[in-house]
Amino acid sequence: MIDIHSHILPFFDDGAQTWDESLVMARQAYEDGIRIIIATPHHYNGRYISNPSSVLESVEVFNAKLNEEELDVTILPGQEIRLNDDLLKLWDEGELMLLNDSRYMLLEFPSSHVPDKAEELVYELSLLGIHAVIAHPERNAEIVRDPQRLRGLVELGALGQLTAQSVTGDRGSKLQKISLDLCKDSLVHFIAADAHDPVRRPFRLAQSYKMIEEKLGTAVANYYQENAVRLTRNEAIPTLDIQTRRLGLSRLSKVFSSMFGLSR
Ligand SMILES: [Fe+2]
Repeated sequence: MIDIHSHILPFFDDGAQTWDESLVMARQAYEDGIRIIIATPHHYNGRYISNPSSVLESVEVFNAKLNEEELDVTILPGQEIRLNDDLLKLWDEGELMLLNDSRYMLLEFPSSHVPDKAEELVYELSLLGIHAVIAHPERNAEIVRDPQRLRGLVELGALGQLTAQSVTGDRGSKLQKISLDLCKDSLVHFIAADAHDPVRRPFRLAQSYKMIEEKLGTAVANYYQENAVRLTRNEAIPTLDIQTRRLGLSRLSKVFSSMFGLSR
C-alpha cells in the first residue's frame, strides 16, 4: 500500500519528534502493509514552515536509515500546504512542493470553514496543471454542514482525501458516517493515514480499506488504493460514480448518457 499523507519526518512539525520515533512509525507502517509513504510536513499553517530543501534532505537521510535497518519502506517528498493568500506567489518562488513532484498538491483548509478564496485558488492551480488534493474534508465544519462546497471544488479539479482513522471509526461514529457519506457522494479520491505518532494518531490504512470494502464494496476500496499508486506515478485520477454503482445502475446510467448525449 501507499500512504500519501504523513507527518513521519522529525523536527518539522507536530508529527515525529525524533529519528527514533520516525523509525517506530515506519515499522508500524510496514506492519500495516505500507511500503511507500509520502512525507508531508505542515507548511504555512501558522505554526510551521517546512523548507523544500530541508524536506528533500530529510527524506534522503531517512531513506538511508531505513536502508540500514533493512526496512522495506520508501519515503517520498511532499508538503501539506495550508491555503494562504500568498500561495500562488510562494509557488512562483519555488517555496511549495507537490506530492512526489507530481501534478498533485496536498492542500489544507482551516478546520472551521472553507476560505472564500478556495474556489478561485483551486481554479488558478488547475490552470497551472496542478490538482489540489483537499486534506481531510470530513474534519472541516463547513463541508460537513454543506458537502456541496466540496462538490464545487471537485468540479473545479480538486480531489478529496479522507483520514484513515475517520473511516475506521477510531474518531467516533459521527465522523465515520460523514466520511462514508462523502465517499457515497463521489467526493473522495484517496484515503491516507495522516499519521503523526505511533500511538495517538497511528497508521490505520489497512483497517480503513477493510472498512470501505465492508461498507462500499471491493471495487471502491481498490479504486482508492489504485489512486494512491496513480498519484505517485503522476497519472490522472479517474472518477468513480459510487452512488450509481451501489444502486447497480451503472449500466443503465451509461445507456441514458448515450441516449441523451451526456458525457461523464
Ligand atoms: Fe496532515
